[in-house]
Amino acid sequence: MLIFKNKAASIVSAAVNKLWGQDVTSSDVADMFEYPPDPAMGDIALPCFKLSRTLKKSPVMIADAISDALDDSVFDKVESVGGYLNLTASSDFLKESLLGIIEEGERYGSSDEGKGKTVTFDYSSPNICKPFHIGHLGTTVIGHSLKLLHEFAGYKCIGINHLGDWGTQFGKQIVAFRKWGDREAVERIGIDELVRLYVKFHEEAEKDPSLDDEARAEFHKLEEGDPDNIALWQWFVDVSLEEYKNTYRQLNIEFDYYTGESFYIRNGLGMKQVDSLKEKGLLKPDDGAYIVDLSEYDMPPCIILKKDGSTIYHTRDIAAAVYRKETYDFSKSVYVTSAQQSLHFAQLFKVIELMGYDWYKDLVHIPYGTVSIDGAKLATRTGNVVLLKDLFAKSIEKVTSIIKEKNPDLEDIESTAEAVGVGAIVFLYLSNNRIKDINFNLENALSFDGNTGPYAQYTYARTCSVLEKAKPEGTCGSVTVPEESDVIKSLLKFPEKVAQALEDYEPSVITRYIIEVCTSFNRFYHACQILKADDPEVKNFRLTLTLAVNNVLRTALHLICMKTPSKI
Ligand code: ARG
Repeated sequence: MLIFKNKAASIVSAAVNKLWGQDVTSSDVADMFEYPPDPAMGDIALPCFKLSRTLKKSPVMIADAISDALDDSVFDKVESVGGYLNLTASSDFLKESLLGIIEEGERYGSSDEGKGKTVTFDYSSPNICKPFHIGHLGTTVIGHSLKLLHEFAGYKCIGINHLGDWGTQFGKQIVAFRKWGDREAVERIGIDELVRLYVKFHEEAEKDPSLDDEARAEFHKLEEGDPDNIALWQWFVDVSLEEYKNTYRQLNIEFDYYTGESFYIRNGLGMKQVDSLKEKGLLKPDDGAYIVDLSEYDMPPCIILKKDGSTIYHTRDIAAAVYRKETYDFSKSVYVTSAQQSLHFAQLFKVIELMGYDWYKDLVHIPYGTVSIDGAKLATRTGNVVLLKDLFAKSIEKVTSIIKEKNPDLEDIESTAEAVGVGAIVFLYLSNNRIKDINFNLENALSFDGNTGPYAQYTYARTCSVLEKAKPEGTCGSVTVPEESDVIKSLLKFPEKVAQALEDYEPSVITRYIIEVCTSFNRFYHACQILKADDPEVKNFRLTLTLAVNNVLRTALHLICMKTPSKI
């Protein structure tokens, strides 16, 4: 409840300064405030021991004196209890705040904190010719949500899909396709067929190791720009991207750039950085390969060139970091990957520092935990992976049958079921602290009763359905029951939640907040008549409240990559 907090802080600091001739600032007091464990005690509390030392008085005396001095229509109740000053917002203040939320509309919760600053987001970044498995869901939705949150805070954001589209595996893919592949089958089946060929390559290479030499030779030709190999590789990229883009469409995600690893190699930027490392005296030969020694920093060496002279993952990341700084002049560059890559990024950031770039401080790695489904860990190298598209399809299918049963007349069942089915998975995923490992259970994700995506979307649709029947108009009454105050109080927390999600790079703050708003709204909805309220001013007030919930829920759901159908 940031607005109340700020208002209360400025009133309390003024009182302290007047009483004791201090110059305590409003933000000093705001930092001291706490939320009481039981809302019945108050909306916010000042633990007065935090002022004891400055004022040389006991907390009880301070709380008593301030409470006697406060006389402001912002507060309904001011109490001094055991050294705490407990403050409760007044109905007038709540009504005024509600109208303020309506006035701000879609901008409510946003800020201009990031004005004039650019942030790049490197996220999703699947590996070409490999399916999008559920492990990629984390980077995709956490990354996108962080980007949206930063945009909401006024930053200029650039979303980059650092596709894994280069490396020796493409030599194998080329050999496999030429030996056993069929264009028509790949076009029809897509990535699954490319995977089948890749798996076959490995099986055959066990029996006939000369295949590996062939693959190396084809990759070498690719690196040299051989037109046939380039064309084939480009086609693999296109086929894969087509599938990924369908997943992105379902998630409502768009990227500004699909500059994958190949971009840095084919532009010579990788080799340019190798030369730069050499000039700076950082490159050391190591058994035929070239490395940057990081032993001084307790890290394994960062390999830059392999024995055969080819660049690797790290080399391309160094080139990408420098390119992004030069091109976008970011004030922050964020990478979202699973925690398994934490060492990779620690090494990368250290090398950038050793290269003398002071902006190494602006590179941020955001790790997240692993996913399992109903207890089964997800294998990635074998065929035994849980594909995101299958999980989405299963979820959409279940939602379709639920809707057909509960609301058979719904106009657009197909797109609604997609929004709810996909949203259920995203919501469940983003309910957890990102660093925690997640065990996925589809039944739980799809329940309409629990703290789930369908529950949140359904509550949003409920606000739409009320507002479809009547809009707030005419004189607006004020708070008449506690359920209304509780809704307003939950809405007032939104800006603060956005700020916290940004500070911790934690979309789950928003997910949990959405549940809080839904719970308070549904309590209000069941306790109060809205459309049938007798008094027109009460009705109008409740419609205004519903409109504010509708606004906040829509914005908050979009911030966590959820669609908001108006009917379910
Ligand atoms: N393609 C990599 C993977 O799937 C993720 C790339 C992350 N971004 C980066 N700049 N390294 O594991």
